Amino acid sequence: MRMICILSLLFCCGGQLVAEETSADRGYQILTSKAYLPPDFDQAVLEDLWKVWPEEQRAKAEQATPEERRAMIYSYYGIMQRPGSETTPLGYVVTPEQKWVMNCFTCHGGKVAGTVIPGAPNSHLALHTLTEDVSKIKLQQLKKLSHMDLAAIGIPLGTTHGTTNSVIFGVVLDSLRDPDMNFDRTRKVPQLLHHDMDPPAWWNVKRKQKIYADAFMTKNHRVLMQFILIPRNHAQKIKSWEADFEDILAYIESLEAPRYRWPVDESLAQQGKQIFNDHCARCHGTYGDDGDYPEKTVAIAELKTDPVRLQSLPPAYRAALNQSWLSRYGKDPVVEDPGGYVAPPLNGVWASAPYFHNGSVPTLWHVLHPAERPKIWKRTENGYDKQKVGLEISSFPKLPDNLSIRQKRSYFDTSQFGKAASGHDYPNALNPSEKRAVLEYLKTL
Ligand code: HEC
Ligand code: HEC
Repeated sequence: MRMICILSLLFCCGGQLVAEETSADRGYQILTSKAYLPPDFDQAVLEDLWKVWPEEQRAKAEQATPEERRAMIYSYYGIMQRPGSETTPLGYVVTPEQKWVMNCFTCHGGKVAGTVIPGAPNSHLALHTLTEDVSKIKLQQLKKLSHMDLAAIGIPLGTTHGTTNSVIFGVVLDSLRDPDMNFDRTRKVPQLLHHDMDPPAWWNVKRKQKIYADAFMTKNHRVLMQFILIPRNHAQKIKSWEADFEDILAYIESLEAPRYRWPVDESLAQQGKQIFNDHCARCHGTYGDDGDYPEKTVAIAELKTDPVRLQSLPPAYRAALNQSWLSRYGKDPVVEDPGGYVAPPLNGVWASAPYFHNGSVPTLWHVLHPAERPKIWKRTENGYDKQKVGLEISSFPKLPDNLSIRQKRSYFDTSQFGKAASGHDYPNALNPSEKRAVLEYLKTL
């Protein structure tokens, strides 16, 4: 795991020792220090958020010390602490004026069994709840609402914790730009199919030629700038930041998958490797030094996982991206009709629960047992299920009665739009002992 920048030491001609910073080091620096968006809120708003919590939690926060209260606020909204720092968040740049600005780690830095891993999906993020509470406190403190606060009035930011409607943020922001990135309010925004997604782990980006769940976009640094295409960042400004995003992509591609933290039954895993190679590798590739990744997209009619993400990017939107500065005017081709989802590399898969593009399946055991996937589940904050390999959960036949809207967001309800846990029935070809062996092997990737 890489947390702080590693400087490669070089002797230069004069025999002097100089430290040379790599592009990846700069990428991490930029991500954690440079603000590309206006602030979401300031420190004073953050510190008051507990005041709008439901009674029981508010009472606890009121009794707490400032340090305890900060930890409660981080936990309530899924804000991660930056590794190596006691007080700084990972998913926000905090400016010298104590203003908090979202960065890529808001969604792409998460914790696994209580340990923060930059590049792991943030499976705790409660972005909509956070934004609603920020707006309430700003009204009390007579402060102006930000672009996020206003967006949350018209667009659901995320209806289940750990997942966000970020694909649709991208559709809205991209659609209002002409091919040269000029903002144009009169452009047509396609019909929006709101749905939530679980971000993929960043450490697998280096194995991919094409990115996103349907592998529709050739990997490049420009397309990663979608997230900062808010109207006030005009075309020239966007383009002036291009080199930063080369460094950010270099950082992403420098990440290594984390190693499984607990004991593994090596001989069982070896048996699992054989079975995996016979049944799974044709889509997911092979692992180890000579590992090979086929980057195979599987038609949705065969795969049968939730189709909404695929349908949410209309052909005209994909075609426009193919003509845009973001794809270097099609030199980094856009697949206009991908037809399905890509089988992702499974390196570090033990640490990227929940599974499938929509985060609907809490453990690898449940991936391997399609008929036993829970209809409704709720995770614990830091529990890790070493038997089933993934999130520690409780499951429910139906939602408990009388939940508030915000309480519902902590339950994953697979009956909701875009949240089906169906499909990917390939493991049904294995018998129970073969599944045990494959599960053990998956820990080692
Ligand atoms: C609001 C949450 C959110 C933020 C903020 C965010 N992302 Fe993402 N990111 C996602 C989601 C969700 C996906 C999956 C999208 C898909 O597959 O269609 C994704 C996909 C990606 C991928 C493709 C990974 C793959 O394996 O296909 C990369 C690379 C990436 N994001 C980089 C970034 C960078 C760089 C930033 C900051 C400039 C950023 N993201 C900000 C949620 C976010
Ligand atoms: C025909 C191709 C294909 C085969 C065979 C296949 N898979 Fe997959 N797998 C996929 C696709 C496509 C996805 C992405 C599904 C989605 O996100 O909707 C996937 C997703 C997964 C995931 C979730 C990954 C994540 O990060 O969310 C796991 C785990 C997985 N497969 C394991 C296996 C195992 C184990 C086998 C063998 C028993 C297997 N797969 C066989 C195509 C395949």
